[in-house]
Amino acid sequence: MEYNIAVVRGDGIGPEVISEAIKVLNAVGEKYGHTFHYQYVLAGGEAIDETGRCLPDETVAIAKASDAVLLGAVGGPKWDTLPGDERPERALLGLRKELGLFANLRPAMVFDELADASPLKPEIIAGGLDIVVVRELTGGIYFGEKGFKDTDMGTAAYDVEQYSEGEVRRIARVAFDMAMKRNKRVTSIDKANVLESSRLWRRIVAEVAGDYPEVILDNMYVDNGAMQLVRNPKHFDVIVTSNIFGDILSDEASQITGSIGMLPSASLADGNFGMYEPVHGSAPDIAGTGKANPLATILSAGMMLRYTFGLMEEADAIDNAVRAFLKEGCRTLDIATGDAAPLTTSETGDKVASLI
Ligand code: IPM
Ligand code: MN
Repeated sequence: MEYNIAVVRGDGIGPEVISEAIKVLNAVGEKYGHTFHYQYVLAGGEAIDETGRCLPDETVAIAKASDAVLLGAVGGPKWDTLPGDERPERALLGLRKELGLFANLRPAMVFDELADASPLKPEIIAGGLDIVVVRELTGGIYFGEKGFKDTDMGTAAYDVEQYSEGEVRRIARVAFDMAMKRNKRVTSIDKANVLESSRLWRRIVAEVAGDYPEVILDNMYVDNGAMQLVRNPKHFDVIVTSNIFGDILSDEASQITGSIGMLPSASLADGNFGMYEPVHGSAPDIAGTGKANPLATILSAGMMLRYTFGLMEEADAIDNAVRAFLKEGCRTLDIATGDAAPLTTSETGDKVASLI
């Protein structure tokens, strides 16, 4: 088969990690007889420098015409002083909205070989951790009405948190479908003791749960959820939550694995279309040094094969190659222990590609 992939290399370590993911994809293509066509498009800081805009129309058009988008990372200190609407990060929000990417899947798992890297006590993560945060990605306060108004305490700024029944229903379905393929547990996280939008969220999630009698649903308030993630992370299988809570909790979840450089993500639209990117950012401090860990991007490419292209065996091949890489004792700098010299970014890509 042939697949068209729009590729945003982006800023900082983005281009380096993308190159390695492409090496691995090409190895998969060779082994299984697929051709991946890559079309490079601009978004983020690089786009600002070259076109004056963080998300050129051409990028959106090409992304829409592709089968999937693979993205490295955007942002860096160079653009930090720009006003909110012109910052590189804005490109991510724009891509999500324009491409209808309402479901963000952020797995947080502890690889057996890297259990030592978790900042949690061994007894808390014994037996491993495997959580997926399903974050609503195109609604809520990040996209709600915003503005300023005069008050007797001076100018006030506001951002509205709003969710419709339909928005909650479709993200809940993604979470329950995911749970059916895993351990059949969904934890919905909200703030229903305070927020009207959360009460609606909770009501719709309960309604959807009715269609999945095998899945056990529990609800948590976000403050408690943040605490349980470090106190008893094994409670969680699939977490479903709003855009802002998911933003925060997915960072927390990724950190407790101790290896954020290993974590992939998928942002999915209705149907099979998706955008795939590592959870880590652009890490400008190590850009160009060969220290970046490309495994999160490589695993993101694996998620693309699984969720958008439906190539399960090929996706397994990527996951297995990464596991074999770790099992052989190969390490990048961020996860290095012992005295074996860490592999560079490009050595890592070569090695994983050779294990396909
Ligand atoms: C993320 C990031 C983005 C978000 C920012 C950069 C807009 O933090 O993908 O989690 O808040 O969604
Ligand atoms: Mn975030």
